[in-house]
Amino acid sequence: MGDAHQPEFLLVPADADTLLLTELRALADAVLIGTGTVRAEGYGRLVRNPERIARRRAAGLAETPPAVLVSRSLDLPWEAPLFAAADQPVIVYTAAGGELPGGLAAPVELVRLAEATPAAALADLRARDVRALLCEGGPTLNRALLADGLVDELFLTLTPKLTGEPDARRIVDGDAGLPRPAELALRWALRHGDELFLRYGVG
Ligand SMILES: NC(=O)c1ccc[n+]([C@@H]2O[C@H](COP(=O)([O-])OP(=O)(O)OC[C@H]3O[C@@H](n4cnc5c(N)ncnc54)[C@H](OP(=O)(O)O)[C@@H]3O)[C@@H](O)[C@H]2O)c1
Repeated sequence: MGDAHQPEFLLVPADADTLLLTELRALADAVLIGTGTVRAEGYGRLVRNPERIARRRAAGLAETPPAVLVSRSLDLPWEAPLFAAADQPVIVYTAAGGELPGGLAAPVELVRLAEATPAAALADLRARDVRALLCEGGPTLNRALLADGLVDELFLTLTPKLTGEPDARRIVDGDAGLPRPAELALRWALRHGDELFLRYGVG
């Protein structure tokens, strides 16, 4: 992501975390989302703000970046609002049999891979000229990407709230730890009130 966009993050509204996320979306060629996250959060059109759409057009980008899902099972939440958004392209990578259900409003492209791995999906995206791929998690997908060395940068928001919840999710989760710890290098840190927005290089 280009540093030229940094100053916009300083014009902070009440919800700076949402602003940061939506600005990152506005810069992305495509947005990778875990199937568990789509199931939990529903989603919908990724870029809706007219000013961001105009900026994307001026930069030669599609009005909204395609949403990208990688699924080994093809057991997807087809009822999620993401699949009901007629103006939100979705690319689904899978190695599973089966077809798309009928009646999806979103233009969904099903891409069959020999193996439904994030690396294979990213290779196909690169062949489609996707350079800036934003991944919005969740923790299981984050683990798969980090384990395979596919993450260049991590944007982390620190909100100072302690809950002590025993089952609280981490940003990287799964059956096992990473094969080796990911080393992060701080690229910049922004502060808004009590929150910190941290951008790290990975690897
Ligand atoms: N606070 C935040 O910033 C934030 C951000 C994102 C998500 N979340 C939360 O995180 C939760 C969802 O996270 P999650 O960890 O349950 O699910 P997830 O990471 O969103 O998605 C996991 C799914 O990804 C698919 N997948 C594809 N390739 C994989 C691979 N190589 N290894 C593992 N999985 C692979 C699997 O689906 P198949 O079984 O079909 O292969 C797997 O079930 C939700 O509650 C969401 O709200 C929070």
